[in-house]
Amino acid sequence: MGRSSESKKAVGFVWRPQPRQREFMRRLEDEALYGGAAGGGKSDCALAEALRQVEIPHYRGLILRKNYPQLSELIDRSHEMYLPAYPGAVYNISKHVWTFPSGAKIYFGSLPHASDKYNYQGKRYDFIDFDELTQFTYDEYSYLFSRNRPNGPGTRCYIRAQANPGGIGHGWVKERFITPAPAMTTIWEKVKIIYPDGTEQIRKKSRIFIPSTVFDNKILLQNDPGYLTRLASLPEKEKSALLYGDWNSFSGQVFIEWRDNPDGYRDRKYTHVIKPFTVPNDWQVYRSFDWGYSRPFSVGWYALDREGILYRIRELYGCTNTPNEGVRWDAAKIAREIRRIEREDNNLSHRSIRGVADPAIFQKNGGESIGEIMEKAGVYWDRADNSRIAGKQQVHNRLSFDSEGRPMLYIFNTCRGFLRTFPALIYSGVDVEDVDTSGEDHIYDELRYMCMEHPIRLRSREEFCGTLRYY
Ligand SMILES: Nc1ncnc2c1ncn2[C@@H]1O[C@H](COP(=O)(O)OP(=O)(O)OP(=O)(O)O)[C@@H](O)[C@H]1O
Ligand SMILES: [Mg+2]
Repeated sequence: MGRSSESKKAVGFVWRPQPRQREFMRRLEDEALYGGAAGGGKSDCALAEALRQVEIPHYRGLILRKNYPQLSELIDRSHEMYLPAYPGAVYNISKHVWTFPSGAKIYFGSLPHASDKYNYQGKRYDFIDFDELTQFTYDEYSYLFSRNRPNGPGTRCYIRAQANPGGIGHGWVKERFITPAPAMTTIWEKVKIIYPDGTEQIRKKSRIFIPSTVFDNKILLQNDPGYLTRLASLPEKEKSALLYGDWNSFSGQVFIEWRDNPDGYRDRKYTHVIKPFTVPNDWQVYRSFDWGYSRPFSVGWYALDREGILYRIRELYGCTNTPNEGVRWDAAKIAREIRRIEREDNNLSHRSIRGVADPAIFQKNGGESIGEIMEKAGVYWDRADNSRIAGKQQVHNRLSFDSEGRPMLYIFNTCRGFLRTFPALIYSGVDVEDVDTSGEDHIYDELRYMCMEHPIRLRSREEFCGTLRYY
């Protein structure tokens, strides 16, 4: 960091990396993850690293946190660190951006919703940092890769991140940075580049994990000796993660292979989300149902093409504006709405549609079952196969990409409930193989029933994050 004796006097603060922070900041890998435990000086490091190229006028850096309130802590700290080093630097509060005397800029951004990643479409950043990476999905992380491009000559383009174990991204972060090699060892990834003319090239990319714990942050231990005591008195699981950086005490997102990649909407490659189209007349259409009253119910309509690929083409998700809160419709009302949609939607009308549903809807609790009430209203269901683990495996099988980048399941981008809830599913703390059923899993359940109707084998799968497309 540049600094002058005047600025030292003015603010009395100069930031110098501590030994483990220095270790992280000298790495040359394309991606580096710092952390693994609380309080190791991770966020400070992100702020300092972003400054490295601010003497270059066209340099653009971006520091991301999941939510804006979390970002504001970083912004406050950036004032303490940046002004002494660059007294001429100016912060724009509404745009969340620092402009340095050279003209270089460092932006702060957040991605509270999956679709917010599109706010970065068409932008370029030489340096991108994800603070608290385990709060992001792999889909969000990898999308931002395409924004890591130079704005002019002479800058270095790279990605840095900091994280503690736990959070939705725990699983993929562990698989990407922690498990492949011991800490402090460079991991080489082969990347297949597919050019527009179809030719392919293999290149190599590097990444590394630099562990740090609060014991590496002597300044914090000195300033706040009670912090260590607070970490040590956490419940066992949190303590092993946050004090010692143990990545085995938590698990994260279930479907880490999920991709919503707008670059692939056109050719349907390396994405599960696509734009709607008119379903050909000779494709079979199905619907699937998961019942809910105080929790949301979910109806999904699917088309099956001649190759056995499933397309989720329409949904009716009975959720209020509050996540995971049901609209409290009775069975007859849901059935009437299904019939209306099947009359009015061009992809559904004039077709014979077979339905499958959770077998529980046929249970009689003293009166008519939900299934019977719906049948009276003209909506029929077969009993779905509700095997949880086999169903989950079927969803994985369908999501996996073949060597051409094609999955066996696509979702129309109009299925908003699916796009919001499916990527957020996390593993259960009780049954480590299964989805956490206290999450918003109703659309997933209904997808699972559909996949069990048309089971497929796992195709030979590319390493989940090993293939990137460049345009
Ligand atoms: N090199 C440094 N120079 C001066 N102070 C530092 C330095 N590194 C860290 N600190 C101090 O330690 C505190 C904690 O560091 P920081 O917030 O970066 O840790 P963290 O690992 O991001 O913590 P968390 O796990 O809570 O996100 C900072 O607020 C700062 O006061
Ligand atoms: Mg931090």
